[in-house]
This record gives sequence, C-alpha cells and structure tokens, in this order.
Amino acid sequence: MTIEREYTEGRITFLSADVEHYSGNKKQITASIPVFYNEKMRLNRDISVLFLSAYLRENKIETMCEPLTGSGVRTLRYLKECPGDFTAKLFDVNPNAIEIARKNIKSLNLETRAQVLKGDAKLLLLTESREKRFDYVDVDPFGTPAPYVNAAIQSLNPDGGLLALTATDMPVLCGAYQKVALRRYGGFSVRAPFVHEVAVRLLEGFAFRVAGLNDCSITPLAVLSTDHYIRTWIKIEADRKKSNRQTENLGIIKFCEGCMQTQIIPQPQKYDNDTFEHAMHNCKGLIRMAGPLWIGDLFKIKQLKGAQEIFNQDDASYYHKRVQRILEEMIEEHSLIEIPFIDLHALCDLHNFTPPKNSDIIQYLKTMGYSATRTHFRPTAIRTNAPVAEVVSAIKNLMKR
Ligand SMILES: C[S@@+](CC[C@H](N)C(=O)[O-])C[C@H]1O[C@@H](n2cnc3c(N)ncnc32)[C@H](O)[C@@H]1O
Ligand SMILES: [Zn+2]
Repeated sequence: MTIEREYTEGRITFLSADVEHYSGNKKQITASIPVFYNEKMRLNRDISVLFLSAYLRENKIETMCEPLTGSGVRTLRYLKECPGDFTAKLFDVNPNAIEIARKNIKSLNLETRAQVLKGDAKLLLLTESREKRFDYVDVDPFGTPAPYVNAAIQSLNPDGGLLALTATDMPVLCGAYQKVALRRYGGFSVRAPFVHEVAVRLLEGFAFRVAGLNDCSITPLAVLSTDHYIRTWIKIEADRKKSNRQTENLGIIKFCEGCMQTQIIPQPQKYDNDTFEHAMHNCKGLIRMAGPLWIGDLFKIKQLKGAQEIFNQDDASYYHKRVQRILEEMIEEHSLIEIPFIDLHALCDLHNFTPPKNSDIIQYLKTMGYSATRTHFRPTAIRTNAPVAEVVSAIKNLMKR
C-alpha cells in the first residue's frame, strides 16, 4: 500500500505518495516512487493553468486528456482553476497512480468531469479519442515526450486542438548526446550558451514534422524554458497547405565558438561555411551547426498577454513567485524571437570582460538605435538585433564608464 500525504498546490489539496518517506533525506524525486509527484514542477503547472485559461478565452474545450497523469494534480488543477466545464480523461500505466488519482477526483467532487483509465498512453490516446477527439492533450512524461507525439496529434480535434509537451531529457536536447538527438528529434543540438533555445526549436521542429505527416499544421503559442525542462504549447490543425508552407520554418542555426556569432539558414540552402560572417575580425573559430530545427515564431502575443491579464487579476499567492517575471520576459522577447539570444556572461568570458547589468546593456543598445530585450530563457542573456560585435563594443564602452 502506498504511504500517502496531502499536498496543496494552486487551489487544490490532493493526495500523492509521501515523497519524503520514499526519497529519504535527499528529497530526490525519482521515477521509482510509487506515485510520481514533483513539487518543483509547480511553476510548470502554474503557467500551464494560466495558458490554458488564456487559450479558453478564444477556443472551446469540451474534452481534454492527460495521458501520463501520475497523481492527477495537473488535470485536477485545470478542472478546478480554469474556466468552463470541460471534461478530462487521465491515463497512467501505474496502478498506484490510478488509485490515487481516483481518490483525488472523488475528494474534489470531480467524478462527473474526470475519468481515469489504466493502460499505455499511446494506445489509450488512440482508442479513447475514437468517438470524440480531444481539444487539448497535455503530455508530461518522464524524459522525452517524443514517443507520444504521434498518438497525441492523432487524438486531437482536427478542427484545432492544443498540444502541450514537456521534455526533461535536457542532456540530449542540449548537445551531450548528438546521435540520440538526431534519432529522437531529427536534428542535432549544439553545445552553446543559447542551447536551451536550440532545445525548444528541436522539439518544435519534431512536432512540426509529426504534425506534417498527419497533414496538420502547427501554430506555436508559447514556450517555457526553466530549471531542468522545456515545455511548448502548440495549436494543431488539419491543414496540409499551411503545413507545406511551414516547411520554410525548418532550418539550421550556425554558431561560431570563436566569436559567438549565430546565423540562421533556412533548410533549402547549402550548408557551406563561406557565407558565415564572424563577429570578430580574422576569427578562426570552429563553426557548429544545430538542426534541422524550427526557425519560425515561438509565441503568440495574444496568448501571452491573455495569461498575464489573468495572472494580474488573480490572487498572486496561488502562483509561484517567478510567474510574473517569466510572463513579462516572454512578452518582451517575443518581438525579437527570430534572433537567437546572446548570453552576456558567456560573451564576457570570451573577451575577459566583467559582465554589465543586463538592464544597462539593453538600455545602451537601445540608445544606439537597436532593439534589445530580456529573455525568459536565461537571466544572463538578452535578445537584440545588434550584431554580436556591436554588443561587444557596447559592453566595452559601458566598462569605461
Ligand atoms: C512525470 S510523471 C507525470 C507527472 C504529472 N503529469 C504531473 O504533472 O504531476 C509520468 C507518469 O507517466 C506514467 N507512465 C510512464 N509510462 C507510461 C505509459 N507508457 N503509459 C501511461 N503512463 C505512463 C508514469 O507512471 C508516471 O506517473
Ligand atoms: Zn567566429
């Protein structure tokens, strides 16, 4: 029998396995605890609640699915905290998870809106959507979501469904295992200071291709990169013509280790190095490539502003303290999302500079006539349309002051 404990998150109190009991003093959450619940993923769920609420302003959800649910906390929060009376199907292979999720549904009086089924996520996504497709599927697995994406897309409403994917296989997405990245996501990552952006774009590129093989297009609504995971919210629609056009959003990103210049090249072009413009004169840096990956948009401003508005009107104590700033940074960086971010600390290390304050360098670049913003991907990074060489000289000038 599972030793249970009560937890409170957002607006719900629910049961899960007692993490302290099963993980000892280390409080290390592993996949081996009888029912998986990770308190550290609360920020992920808080933002997911806000994004779903914002999405519901413009889209109708009648039924949703969380195919890897654990204790059920994520979906139960959606049911209790998001507007509307949509229903949900929750799946898990683990019988302990099924038992606890059912108890939670009962104690929260959600029996008429939530149904829990035991079995393999991929299989149930297909069979349980046969009569009525899902309007929202939230894939939140251990490690990579890749094995579930095809079934998830096939289970979605072809007139428009929301797909959320969490990935925690960061060593793969961040360039430590190139061969695994290529076979799992169809592209190479790169070890670089902006690698989390590459990670998000690899996942987005993979989702695009799986959607494409199902004659669907994708519309990325938002991405989140924080702690040790990434997450993406994508609208999927049956639209093969749009999917054809969107092949233009596949490409590679080149990155020079010597000067930190990046360059985005759409897929059809040749991968020759002659066209790479370095940021430093005579730079002999090694040029690395990431991709093929998604080089298109990552956010819809309406989605972000909607989530921010809902957050501002709500009681902030229900959310993680980082939510407000993350939303602000996403809104800022959206205007420059087509340019990979620059990590100022890495750039300063390269030139032996003392890193300036982000706000100072952003201000300075703006007075030079460039656009520059913070990015939620990293506190030490910025996005700017200034070439890297200009950022370097801006830092130099700031250091003289
Ligand atoms: C990371 S946990 C889910 C956490 C949950 N989404 C949350 O927000 O708390 C992953 C869950 O997937 C379940 N699982 C693993 N493989 C599965 C499969 N093939 N089909 C269904 N569930 C599976 C595990 O038992 C575990 O409960
Ligand atoms: Zn270079």
